[in-house]
Order: sequence, then C-alpha cells, then structure tokens
Amino acid sequence: MRRAVCPGSFDPVTHGHLDIFERAAGLFDEVVVAVGTNVSKTKLFTPDERIEMLREATSGFDNVRVDGFSGLLTDYCRKESIQAIIKGLRGGGDFEYEVQMAQMNSHLTGVETVFLPTSTTYAFVSSSLVKEVASLGGNIEGLLPDFVRERLLKRLAERASA
Ligand code: PNS
Repeated sequence: MRRAVCPGSFDPVTHGHLDIFERAAGLFDEVVVAVGTNVSKTKLFTPDERIEMLREATSGFDNVRVDGFSGLLTDYCRKESIQAIIKGLRGGGDFEYEVQMAQMNSHLTGVETVFLPTSTTYAFVSSSLVKEVASLGGNIEGLLPDFVRERLLKRLAERASA
C-alpha cells in the first residue's frame, strides 16, 4: 500500500487544496489529508471545524481520508506508515519555504516529499489571501467550495460584530 499525506492548516480548505488532493489520489493508493493541530491562536477555524469541512469537501474521493495530527509530521508519518509527504507548489516563494522543510523531514526520518505544481487555475489561491479578500468585501466565489465560502463569510461577520 503506497500511502501519502497532504499536511496543512487548511484554514479553510480551498479549490487549490482539493486539486492537489485529487491529483495525489491518482498517484497513491491512499491519501491522508492531515490537519496540523499544534496550538495557534491565529486560525479562523478550530481544528475540528477544519477537519469537518475537509471531510465534507473530500467525500467524493474514495481513497482520501482526513485526520488531525499534533507534534512532528515525521512522527505522524511513521505512526501511520506513510511513505511520502505531498506539497503543492504555487511558485518560487513556496519552493524556498517548502524545500527546507522537505530536507528537514528527510533528515529526521528519511520520509520523501513529493512536490506537485498547482494547476494554473488556482496558482493565485491561498487560504490567507481568500480570508483577506473576503474580510474586505471582495468576491471569493469559485475559489473554495460554496459551503466553505458560506461558513467563512459567517465566521468573518461574527468576528466583525464581536
Ligand atoms: O498549511 P501550512 O500552514 O503551510 O501547514 C504547515 C504544516 C502543518 C504542514 C507544518 O507546519 C508542519 O508540518 N507542522 C508540523 C510540525 C513539524 O513537523 N515541524 C517541522 C517541519 S520541518
């Protein structure tokens, strides 16, 4: 069984993430989407909320499951018998950041990282930018699943009125 992990914060999941999951699912027998739950006060959604949205968004993929992890990603890979870490790259900026993590993870346990270039359709999409645009009233339609967009707009409205 060739098993890979797509790790991330997914705050929240976008069509860019889903594109990577779908393509990874075509390359591996099983893909685990793993939400990093190390404590962070800066996230808009809780780990459980992010996992719930990911489960709904990936329900159509037979060989994709969603999980949470804390601690080192390499420890999670060892525990779950995962051979590869999948990372989507939008461009050179992502590469600079990701290659160092890939080298550290390889150093720690020898786990391989596989980089997939994001599709050009979603190369400009990130959860952070989507949140910023939405919070300033911009149109984020088509960048993330509709039900996630609705939850995002609701959460931003709650935050604004708090
Ligand atoms: O979507 P993000 O925020 O870029 O995801 C980052 C994530 C969760 C993949 C990364 O921070 C991570 O792997 N965290 C687990 C802790 C860890 O293993 N740190 C050492 C990385 S070399």
